[in-house]
Amino acid sequence: MYYSQEVIDEVLNGVDIVDVVSAHVHLQKKGAGYMGLCPFHNEKTPSFSVSSQRQTFHCFGCGVGGNAITFLMKYDNMGFQEALKQLADKAGVRLPEANYSKDAKERAQKREQLLAVNKDTATYYYRLLRSPRGSTGMKYLTGRALSPETMKKFGLGYADGRSSDLTSYLKEKGYEDSLLIEAGVCLFDEKRGLHDRFFNRVMFPIQDANSRVIGFGGRVMGDGKPKYLNTSDTPVFDKSRNLYGLNLAKRSRTGSFIICEGYMDVIAMHQAGFNQAIASLGTAFTPGQAALIRRYVKNVILSYDSDEAGVRAALRNIEILREAGLGAKVLDLRPYKDPDEFIKALGPGEFQKRIDGAENSFFYEIRMMKSSYQLEDPGERTRFQEEIAKKLMVFENPAERENYLQDICRIHMIDPAIMRQLVGSYNRVSSGSSAAAAREQQQLARQRRQRAREDRSLTRQQKASLDKQKLLLTWLTDDPGLYRQIREYISPDSFSEGICRETAIRLWQRLEDGLADYSRLASAVIASFETEEEQQAAAALLETRIPGIESPAEREKAFRELLEAVYNDSLGRLYDRSLTDAEALRQFTESRQKQQKLKQLKLHLKST
Ligand code: UTP
Ligand code: MN
Repeated sequence: MYYSQEVIDEVLNGVDIVDVVSAHVHLQKKGAGYMGLCPFHNEKTPSFSVSSQRQTFHCFGCGVGGNAITFLMKYDNMGFQEALKQLADKAGVRLPEANYSKDAKERAQKREQLLAVNKDTATYYYRLLRSPRGSTGMKYLTGRALSPETMKKFGLGYADGRSSDLTSYLKEKGYEDSLLIEAGVCLFDEKRGLHDRFFNRVMFPIQDANSRVIGFGGRVMGDGKPKYLNTSDTPVFDKSRNLYGLNLAKRSRTGSFIICEGYMDVIAMHQAGFNQAIASLGTAFTPGQAALIRRYVKNVILSYDSDEAGVRAALRNIEILREAGLGAKVLDLRPYKDPDEFIKALGPGEFQKRIDGAENSFFYEIRMMKSSYQLEDPGERTRFQEEIAKKLMVFENPAERENYLQDICRIHMIDPAIMRQLVGSYNRVSSGSSAAAAREQQQLARQRRQRAREDRSLTRQQKASLDKQKLLLTWLTDDPGLYRQIREYISPDSFSEGICRETAIRLWQRLEDGLADYSRLASAVIASFETEEEQQAAAALLETRIPGIESPAEREKAFRELLEAVYNDSLGRLYDRSLTDAEALRQFTESRQKQQKLKQLKLHLKST
């Protein structure tokens, strides 16, 4: 089986060598990389280094080295394909099944050729910028406060006023005219023949996630139009599936990306130390780009111009990010227009403060909406509140919806009880006709009623939540086979502190150990508590009655509902903590993304 370099790159791109190696070798951060004891020879002091920047490992003691694939091949004694397969699974990349067809092979070849043209073109512009003929471009870029290192990092270049120098250079290298046109670096017309597409511009090579040049943006050095001229789509340049700066940002390890509007913004941010910055390529942000981002981070900070178009773009992109399951926040850079200007005026320290204070995207949406209502007018105020209620419907998880509802009501001084009623009415309106939808409606109605009661007696809801947790624990001791099916979703942390959590910890321990005999599971868990008091509490807990349902389908349904209820409750608790605790916020976002997956989880209950 032959795998194209593209597939291999995609796999390598989707994993981090630090994670791959850490699974086998204890690594410690040292300077720019990581060090550990070399697994390939005997040593007492670490000489085995792993670089996350370069995605390679190297042993200064015995000389072995390579990338994530070679590491697995050596460490686990695997073949190339096997190692690639293992990493592909980890990266969520599907390897092509069959051999390449002739057609596909030709396409792959064409792509390779186009990439080669781009690379040579980028080199040409790069050198020209640094030659005497490039002084105008150099002056322009220096005038925009870019350092030589930054220009190098982004491979910036220059196309001067002569209209066929690049063309001659590329033709000398033996490229066909048609290929140069297809790559978008040359144009043809009757009068001039084949000639350069870009001239009199500073050139920004656009790289894909694997640092291959896929296209160009060229900026005029003054007020000409268009300000930026970009390569049109080609077989290697799909604007909707690439992001400027991603090749650098993917190694940033800050856990979130900052998306902004322009090339210069990305570059300015990187120069100021914010190497998590990326930009869409002069077009609207797309779901394909959101999916690309999700391979690397779970959260995104939007940084768009503070003008009307910027706000509109931010609002649209929040939706796209939400659909993709990414968390979003919005940066406020006022009174400056964009990150480039902000950093130039106030510096990196102030910029970091704005990042820290970025606004939750839902709050941002509501705040933006608010400005279009005359709130002194009762009718408009009502309309505003109705819009909020509608927007709250995006949260499927009732706990999450309620949490947002409470916060929004506090911020905009709305009575939460009234907002709940409004949300409830939309719930009915939007209900579908299927039985499942009806069931969900009923459940929501139940939860709403419960919430209403809750306002009077909080303990009641807590008690209901505890009862469910107890039932889940009991059910697991009764049917331990369920453990492996649900452990991805439920952990001891999903249970309330106290006896439930303690019991869960002990139960998880034993289930994880995989006891040969599960028949004594409950008693083993009870026996593991020290005091008699605790033992009694645990015993009582594990005696919770499992509903005696005969039909397997009904039983499965009951268990599923229980599972989701416990999951959602724990999500609600996580949310509360996430307001003040970054780790909880991370867990919350992660768990929230699993919610859909949990709904689709296939369960196999033991037969009774
Ligand atoms: P802006 O007009 O906001 O420019 O366009 P900018 O990023 O601040 O650029 P500078 O600082 O004036 O150099 C934002 C982005 O929109 C795309 C480019 O990607 C640009 O970075 N754009 C803009 C184009 O593709 N073509 C244009 O003519 C203008
Ligand atoms: Mn700008």
